[in-house]
Amino acid sequence: MAGKKVSIISLHEKKQRSQPICMITAYDYPSALAADRAGVDTILVGDSLAMVVLGHESTVQVTMDEMLHHCRAVRRGVQNAYLIGDMPFMSYQAERGEAIRNAGRFIKEAGMDAVKLEGGREVAGTVRAINDAGISVVGHIGFTPQSVAKLGGNRVQGKTAAAARRLYEDAQSLQEAGAVMLVLEMVPDRLAEYITCHLSIPTIGIGAGPACDGQVLVLHDMLGLFDRFTPRFVKKYADLGGEMQRALSAYREDVAERRFPAAEHTFSMEDAAWEEWMREMEPDKG
Ligand code: KIV
Repeated sequence: MAGKKVSIISLHEKKQRSQPICMITAYDYPSALAADRAGVDTILVGDSLAMVVLGHESTVQVTMDEMLHHCRAVRRGVQNAYLIGDMPFMSYQAERGEAIRNAGRFIKEAGMDAVKLEGGREVAGTVRAINDAGISVVGHIGFTPQSVAKLGGNRVQGKTAAAARRLYEDAQSLQEAGAVMLVLEMVPDRLAEYITCHLSIPTIGIGAGPACDGQVLVLHDMLGLFDRFTPRFVKKYADLGGEMQRALSAYREDVAERRFPAAEHTFSMEDAAWEEWMREMEPDKG
């Protein structure tokens, strides 16, 4: 495919030129191929994989090996987009050395350009350590799904002045620690704008209003492939779930009514070959 590989430098240049950055999640080869062909700047192999692909209740169940497996599939579908692998719950919180080694696996074994991890000042030391090991890190603050139980559900974060200050300081400490980009999830629009204006690294919003440097959506939400719930910030661009259901029902009915396979889906055998085969198998009938 034509085009140029997107780098962290080109993403930072987009912020400087006020050009919006487009990020989408993807989890497999065909979706990565489509996203790359659509020209999105960056693809996140999100730990939302746990819910939208693997059917778990939350993101915390997905493992390092599952994440790497899907990152490798995405890698094979992409030529240009900047690739980010999401570090799963408990792959970076317990111990810094383990965090560096796990981050390294995303780069070395799965061909990612960067890793993402959730949290504010409490993970700044880990972000710095991974960054010092030569690995780019994307931060993620606001609503952080790996802490859904602690946060008491899917809630907008930073709604009071004190909470806004905390988020702003978290953003600053992640930037100081070397984060190359920052995802802001479910943050009031004015606060997201303020943070965006006061950081030199790009902010990528999801439920954080239009003033962020870029936007990200979960692929299965925007394509209508995940119907357990749809957050208010999602814009649905297609109903592929409905399409899939219609196609599968039509297929089942066609098989039941012997409408499928039709002649055009069927292979035939030359008469001479068939007759020879019959003579061999059923000589008495000849
Ligand atoms: O895992 C994910 O899909 C994410 C996005 C919501 C940013 O972290």
